Amino acid sequence: MKTILITGGAGFIGSNFVHHILDTYPDYRVKVLDKLTYAGNLDNLRDVMDDDRFTFIKGDICDKALLKEAAEDVDYIVNFAAETHVDRSILDSEAFIRTDVLGTYTLLETVRELNIERFVQISTDEVYGSITEGSFKEDAPLNPSSPYAASKAGADMLVNAYWVTYRLPVIITRSSNNYGPYQYPEKLIPLFITNALEDKPLPLYGDGMNVRDWLYVKDNCEAIDLVLHKGEPGRIYNIGGDNERTNIEITRKILAILGKPESLIRYVTDRKGHDRRYSIDSTRIHNLGWHPRTDFDTALEDTVHWYVENRWWWERVKSGEFQRFYKEYYKM
Ligand SMILES: NC(=O)c1ccc[n+]([C@@H]2O[C@H](COP(=O)([O-])OP(=O)(O)OC[C@H]3O[C@@H](n4cnc5c(N)ncnc54)[C@H](O)[C@@H]3O)[C@@H](O)[C@H]2O)c1
Repeated sequence: MKTILITGGAGFIGSNFVHHILDTYPDYRVKVLDKLTYAGNLDNLRDVMDDDRFTFIKGDICDKALLKEAAEDVDYIVNFAAETHVDRSILDSEAFIRTDVLGTYTLLETVRELNIERFVQISTDEVYGSITEGSFKEDAPLNPSSPYAASKAGADMLVNAYWVTYRLPVIITRSSNNYGPYQYPEKLIPLFITNALEDKPLPLYGDGMNVRDWLYVKDNCEAIDLVLHKGEPGRIYNIGGDNERTNIEITRKILAILGKPESLIRYVTDRKGHDRRYSIDSTRIHNLGWHPRTDFDTALEDTVHWYVENRWWWERVKSGEFQRFYKEYYKM
């Protein structure tokens, strides 16, 4: 019997991870602590709310007293809580610095005080910056471009410092772009699926040739689970989908699956500081025994069908804060 505190567990990847843990380990308890920002959504957890093994706490990872109380009886902490949208960080980055850096620091102090067995920090391939050819290994220098990526890099630096200084049992994962169910529809794949379903334009940056490596969220959850239980403290693990695609290719695939015309594509002015290509080398986690299990075309189709079948979920999300951001950012 283990108890895991999952911070940010009402967001996209965090809620998928909650489902994964409860499904995989019948004797585990899960506590979620989440501030429920615009991106946090209790609908993502509605299937598990009545499970005896599950507890939800509304709160902020910057609140030290609350964290201490929430973490008192836990074995592991996995931190997904963050401000995560690059475009929002370009408009205003204050919340990013606060949650991603100060929040991670507050969690590290809690781990130190309570002697937590393991702390996993969920980071991103964006901390490495853009790469024209080849792929970044875990020891590559950090070169973040956006305020979002810089705030995540700051958190990674702190986590590493707590390993070097205090030998805290910490691990960092840096995954590539995730896609799947329950992703807030400001991110490319759910935005384009739901806009296409509404016959609205799909705002595609620049020439559409930016390259991202795409990872199905359920594969990422399996990788995080493996690292949590078998990873080596003090290590960083890249988690890539081995699946690099241009944005225009993804866009065309989504439209083809939905049977919608390419005339819905609307090229818009490129994102400021837009990284051209992300690419990570995942040899280290392959050696630990993980490979992505999902075929991209099948998982993308499953994802599109999930949004088709769960309109109740995204129509509610899109009718709220999303509208304000979308109008301000895209002016459409
Ligand atoms: N989505 C991706 O493609 C991707 C890729 C690589 C890494 N990541 C990282 O994975 C993690 C999760 O990403 P996501 O896409 O699920 O994000 P998300 O935006 O969907 O969810 C973030 C969650 O954190 C919560 N939160 C925000 N500030 C908080 C605070 N101060 N205290 C407590 N909770 C707070 C929100 O309410 C929300 O539930 C992030 O750390 C992100 O940097 C995401």
